[in-house]
Amino acid sequence: MLRVGYPESIPEELLRDLFDGVELVCIPEHLDHEIHIDVWIPDPYTNRALRAWPWLRGVRLVLAMLAGTEWIPQVVGPHVTICNARGAHNISTAEWTVAAILAMLKYFPLYNDIQREGRWKRRFELPPHYAAISGDTRPLYPPVMLEELTGKRVLLVGHGAIGKEIERMLAPFDVQLTRMARRARPEDSVHSVTELDSLLPNAEIIVLIVPSTDETRGLIGSKQFALMRHGALLVNAARGPVVDTYALVEALQSGRIRAAIDVTDPEPLPEDHLLWSCPNIMITPHVGGSSPQFTPRALRTAAAELRRYINGEALQNIVQAAI
Ligand SMILES: NC(=O)c1ccc[n+]([C@@H]2O[C@H](COP(=O)([O-])OP(=O)(O)OC[C@H]3O[C@@H](n4cnc5c(N)ncnc54)[C@H](OP(=O)(O)O)[C@@H]3O)[C@@H](O)[C@H]2O)c1
Repeated sequence: MLRVGYPESIPEELLRDLFDGVELVCIPEHLDHEIHIDVWIPDPYTNRALRAWPWLRGVRLVLAMLAGTEWIPQVVGPHVTICNARGAHNISTAEWTVAAILAMLKYFPLYNDIQREGRWKRRFELPPHYAAISGDTRPLYPPVMLEELTGKRVLLVGHGAIGKEIERMLAPFDVQLTRMARRARPEDSVHSVTELDSLLPNAEIIVLIVPSTDETRGLIGSKQFALMRHGALLVNAARGPVVDTYALVEALQSGRIRAAIDVTDPEPLPEDHLLWSCPNIMITPHVGGSSPQFTPRALRTAAAELRRYINGEALQNIVQAAI
């Protein structure tokens, strides 16, 4: 019978009904002896998974609970098949993205700061970087306190599982969406990333939802920030290294753009990092994929993949096929 190792942090009752017909092997958090398993479900916290790996023997298949699996291939080597939990984060990460966009356009971080000070003030009475960031220089009356998402021009960089969910959730806002992925797919109106620089100047909101790879490292750097319009909102729900951190700091300090980011480079962001004190930025500590529904959903995805593996069917979420 196939032996499936799962982390102690996950209650066995969550797995029992999903993984029938296999032997479930609990991997203790402080493992100090060899364990033989065929299939490994690593702890979603990378440092815990890394502590367990040196004791594991016989692993042929890794079923990750996360969509981002960048640390796994170099650790387990090329002779192990790795599958991710594609889809398990779709809803939570897409909801974070829409919430972050709305929070920035409705200036919730600003109004939250003012609330803490116990002051009844509005945006135009506050520090100039808030008043100036929308890029709208028209003399509007009454003064403008918030902005609308409806009708905004959104450039969605990454049109995979989560990107498509973001598109679905943005649809009721009637945004003008431009889709972008690694390769163009004209039949779905998806542009190639080679068109990034030419499409950036038109975008009011740029959403990043791509994997961390050699190709996406520094995808948004000084050149791309310079191409963005005044007041553009950069939303990074992908991975920190996709954006050049120092270029981001410079762009924010210049007062030209704003950003909402769930991921940083480095992570965790050090306490004294310049990014914390930049104007017009909202930072959350890489929590976009988190929700109570996540673990059951990720385990269902892993169990379905394991069923295909046992039945000799094609796996659907392979990020590395064993050689
Ligand atoms: N903030 C969080 O908590 C959180 C949670 C979950 C996931 N994430 C991040 O989100 C990423 C995407 O997840 P997903 O499930 O949507 O992945 P996915 O289904 O594999 O989709 C990835 C998308 O990125 C595109 N892409 C890949 N390389 C690219 C490049 N060099 N330039 C432009 N586009 C590129 C792909 O293009 P093609 O369609 O042409 O292949 C695809 O459209 C994950 O890898 C992870 O890093 C973050």
